[in-house]
Amino acid sequence: MSSSAAAPPIPGPFTDYRSLSDAELAARIEGVRQRMGRRLVILGHHYQQDGVIAHADFQGDSYQLSRSAAERDECEAIAFCGVHFMAETADILANRPDKVAARGGRRVSVVLPDLAAGCSMADMAAIHQVEDAWADLGTVIDTAELTPVTYINSAASLKAFCGRHGGIVCTSSNARAVLEWAFARGRRVLFFPDQHLGRNTARTMGIGLDQMCVWNPHAPELGGNGTAALEASRVILWQGHCSVHAMFRPEHVDGLRKNIPGVKILVHPECSMEVVDKADLVGSTSYILRQVEQAPPGTKWAIGTELHLVKRLESAHPEQEIRFLSPVVCMCATMYRIDLAHLCWSLEHLEAGDAVNVIRVDDETAKWAVVALERMLAVA
Ligand code: 13P
Ligand code: SF4
Repeated sequence: MSSSAAAPPIPGPFTDYRSLSDAELAARIEGVRQRMGRRLVILGHHYQQDGVIAHADFQGDSYQLSRSAAERDECEAIAFCGVHFMAETADILANRPDKVAARGGRRVSVVLPDLAAGCSMADMAAIHQVEDAWADLGTVIDTAELTPVTYINSAASLKAFCGRHGGIVCTSSNARAVLEWAFARGRRVLFFPDQHLGRNTARTMGIGLDQMCVWNPHAPELGGNGTAALEASRVILWQGHCSVHAMFRPEHVDGLRKNIPGVKILVHPECSMEVVDKADLVGSTSYILRQVEQAPPGTKWAIGTELHLVKRLESAHPEQEIRFLSPVVCMCATMYRIDLAHLCWSLEHLEAGDAVNVIRVDDETAKWAVVALERMLAVA
């Protein structure tokens, strides 16, 4: 809804925003939202701080946010309150060639309020490492029967690699359906960058640990594997992980089960196999949210995912007993980079026609990345 209120003067440098109070920043953010109306969409991941998520038009997990970006036709800009790979995915999906043509050549600008909001797991697989691994694997196994699957938590170049090599993208909410798609096409999967999501998902499909091996991109030869292990493998797992979810340990589950009879352990599939094996329920951030929303009053939960989501669930559901699975703080420091000051600064620049922190995937990378993303969207 646009209003007739005048836009503020040309915004100043970011440091000017640091001195504003949260209330001032929130009011100015809402001012931009009012004035820009439907021209602006703010997307927010569940891990965002409460103060930031309060301004989002749509909140979701990585899959839902990708779908939401893919469906944006009318807006001029998306401000993505999440991390870099999410903003890249939004740029690719919101600016597919057919969409841009339908808009008469107009692109949707995707802005990441703080460019330092990356993902340490995504950084564990670089395109040159994946290309080297593919070439090395080709000396032992037939890559014609190997399907590359990248977790959405990866750079656009890796999604493009999957697009070029008959592969696909997955998220935490559709990893099993995606692996089924891959196994309908070939004997083996190279799964990157999260070994835990790959391992946990493959095991739900009855694939044993003896049919999986781990590819260490820093090992001098064959990712640290022997040829026999690679030949026997159905899933080759990249040696990457999320340092936030690595903080949840099986002994935390044991301790809570002992101290809180009836507690339900609810975790994200980025947790290790040892934690997932001891959990009652495993799923994406939206799955976690739904389980709590649908549970009867008095349900006791210990939740293993990023702190901001767990804290929000705790305050939204006082009728349930919700606690954090780990005794230590597990916070995604990069998600936390997005704060009110960065959001306000980026929105006011956007409104003034001087957009900052625009995420623009180059055309060649986007052309192939969208192939892998569309395969995912067609599967689930
Ligand atoms: P979801 O897709 O489940 O929201 O997970 C994203 C993520 O980065 C979890 O660490
Ligand atoms: Fe990446 Fe882990 Fe943060 Fe998710 S929680 S964005 S996987 S670092």
